[in-house]
Amino acid sequence: MSQIEAAKSGEVSEGALHAIKVAGHSIALTRVGGKVQAFVNKCPHLGMPLTKGKIEGGAVTCPFHGSKFDICSGRNVDWVKNFLGMPLPGWAQSALAMGKQPAGLKTLAATEKDGAIFLEV
Ligand code: FES
Repeated sequence: MSQIEAAKSGEVSEGALHAIKVAGHSIALTRVGGKVQAFVNKCPHLGMPLTKGKIEGGAVTCPFHGSKFDICSGRNVDWVKNFLGMPLPGWAQSALAMGKQPAGLKTLAATEKDGAIFLEV
């Protein structure tokens, strides 16, 4: 494990997702209750980016099919609920899941010091 400077503190704010690249991987940064959080910017359902997702109550909702994740823990809260925001009946949710089982986000340890944000990678 090593620590890298990922962003300046002022670039990351509550209620917004800030995407950066680390070793070729997209990482999303945000704040929950003022504390910086980081996760791999890849929905576990089909690998789509989450940075256009909705943030509410410490969770991010995937803009593609509505899977929802707790930002701090990465825990899956909802799995494949809609299609581009349009609600789906249960049978269609199962079909759209395409056999993928609910999974959480990969989170990264983030710290902040002297106006910069650092990630453990
Ligand atoms: S790609 Fe995110 S829920 Fe399908």
